[in-house]
Parts: sequence; C-alpha cells; structure tokens
Amino acid sequence: MVELHALRQRFEQLYQQSPRIFSAPGRVKLIGEHTDYNDGFVLPIAIERRTFVAAAPRPDSTVVVHSLAMQQTVQFDLSRPGAVRRGSWLDYVEGTARALIERGFTLTGANLLIDSDVPRGAGLSASAALELSVGYALAVLGGSPRPDPLQLALAGQAAEHSYVGTLCGIMDQYISALAVANHALLIDCRALDYEPIAVQLRTACVLICDTQVKHELSSSAYNERRRQCEMGVREIARFRPTVHALRDVNLDVLEEEAPRLPPLIARRCRHVVTENARTLAAVAALKEGRLARLGDLMSESHASLRDDYEVSCAELDEAVAAVAAEPGVYGSRMTGGGFGGCTVSVLEAAAVDRAVRAIRERLRGRFGLEPEFFVTHAAAGATEE
Ligand code: GLA
Repeated sequence: MVELHALRQRFEQLYQQSPRIFSAPGRVKLIGEHTDYNDGFVLPIAIERRTFVAAAPRPDSTVVVHSLAMQQTVQFDLSRPGAVRRGSWLDYVEGTARALIERGFTLTGANLLIDSDVPRGAGLSASAALELSVGYALAVLGGSPRPDPLQLALAGQAAEHSYVGTLCGIMDQYISALAVANHALLIDCRALDYEPIAVQLRTACVLICDTQVKHELSSSAYNERRRQCEMGVREIARFRPTVHALRDVNLDVLEEEAPRLPPLIARRCRHVVTENARTLAAVAALKEGRLARLGDLMSESHASLRDDYEVSCAELDEAVAAVAAEPGVYGSRMTGGGFGGCTVSVLEAAAVDRAVRAIRERLRGRFGLEPEFFVTHAAAGATEE
C-alpha cells in the first residue's frame, strides 16, 4: 500500500515544495487473451494496485525524477532530445514526456517522486501504470487540466514503441487511462472504443496469484505467435478477401478453411477465434450475473491457451488445476502473455483462504515457489488524487 501522506512528506523533504498527486492503475484481463493484436475483443479491469506520482513544476525545462522503488534519482531536459533506450525505468518516463510533446502537449520542467504497489514483471502492466501516472502529472502541470485519456494512452504506447523498444498493443495503456470503477471494459481493439461492463460479483471476488515465474521464452514466443496468426490470415484471405484479421473469422469459417492450413497454424487460429467468442459470451454472462458461466468460459480460455496456443507453462497449469475442483471457485485461468506471471480466478470471497492454501501448497511442493496473492475490485483509471 502506498501511503499518500508519507509520499507527500517525502516530496516536501526532497524538493522543498508542495506536490499534487496523480495515480494510474495496473490491470488484469478477466478474459480475451492474445486477441488484441488480432483486432479482437478484450475484457480487462484496472486493479487496486497503483503507481503514484507526487509532482510540482520547476521554473526550468528539467524533469527530476526520484523512484522510491528503485532508490534512484535521475533527470532529463525537455528542451534537449534524449538518449533513446537507456534500458532502465527512466525510458518509460522520458519516453512518455517526449511522446506528449509530439502530440502537442505543452510541458514544463517538474520535480517528480514515484511510488507504486503494482508488482513489477508480473504481467500486471506496471509499465502502463508508470506511463499513465507520469503522463497525467506532466500534462496537468503543463497546463492541460483535464488531459484527453486516449491521448495519454497513445503517448504511453508510443513511449514503449520508440523508447523502450516493446511493440505492444494499446490495451494496457487504454485500460490504465480509461478504466471505470466497478466496471470491466469490453475493448474493441479494432475500433479502439469500449463499453463499460458492470462487474457485479455479489459475494464473489477476483483473486490474482502472482506465481513469481518468468520463463525466458516469453518474448520470442510472443512474436512467433503473432507471426503464426498473420500467416493464418494470409492463407484464409486468399479465398476470402474480406478477411483482414482473425477478428473477421468465425468458427464455421475456420472449420471450412482449416484443412488448407498447416495443423499448427489452424490451432493457433482456433484459439483466437474461440477466445473472441468467449470474450463476448463472458460479457453476456457478467451482464446476466451468471458467474458459473463466466467461470466456465475462463476455464475454457485457459485450456485453449494451454493446448491450442501453447503459451501456458507447468506452473500456471498447476495453479489453475489447484483450484479447479475447489468449492466456491467459478473459474481460473492464466492471464497475460504467458510462460509465467499471474493467474486470475473468480471465486466466492469465503473460498479465498482455501484457494490460496491449495495453490500455495501445490506451487511450493512441486516447484519450490512462493506465490503472492491479492484480491481486487475493479478500480478507476488515471486520475489526480
Ligand atoms: C501481452 C501484451 C498484450 C497482449 C497479451 C496477451 O501482455 O502486452 O498486448 O497481447 O500479452 O493477451
């Protein structure tokens, strides 16, 4: 938990100024995995873990940043183009600042103090939370009292592309910027618009398990999956020119086309096509308050990611299997790119302790892992505190 009073005091000690405080959340996807770069649908919520930025303007064009997590102070000058890709957390900060300027925002120098309780490297979008909280702070200090959240999200994505070197989709920054409290967002990654979906879980809740595992494979396999999807689209489009992305393919069409595709490509496509359908079905289930149905869809999503898309790993499978038969658990699945990171489960609040024990025992017993857990509601997006 970040203590805002302590953050403010620390800022005053460091910079001899009173700050304004801004924040942005991490996120988790209830469902809709590996659909975003296929023009498809995703259903994330913002989590109750946030990055906070205490900020005050400076009279010059220097941005001074101190990170409490990193115990580091660094600075850069807005008036001088920066060194691209230092390979550190400053890339996210400077990249966002420069992307805002390119989008027409006026920025001034600033003193910043950053603290966060979003786990890093766990697939919960700690980087988007950093970009959006810093972007919001710099935009407001520079004279935009209510910065357009979509522009902030695009600036965060641009920082990833040109400063950090990650060719990510827009989803992470989008939800961190635009999340609505107590709602998931059904994001249409083609149209870049969204529908807020009330998350009414009654006595149930969302449990996140950070397995603490990260396999090397993740980024090379991610790019390979993207290429395999593109290959599938190219093949299908040869006879169906209206198909531009797997978003344009339904299961009937895929079944007709599958014999023409290499079996591996057909399986990859089947994951994406069925995951899009599951995401829309999950929205209907949430709207109708049918948690058992939502949970079944989450479990099917995990099986599809494991068997058709092959981005799970033994530790994620074990964490999901550990709770599959637990009373009060509606569904559980890996979330994020895969090969490590987190699982997300929807379960009765009364079942949380048992589920945590079951996962902990199995991950400790089989892999010697010490996973971390937290329950979250759907939080709001980037804001001034
Ligand atoms: C990573 C990417 C996201 C998305 C997921 C898979 O987390 O950053 O854009 O593709 O993988 O759903």
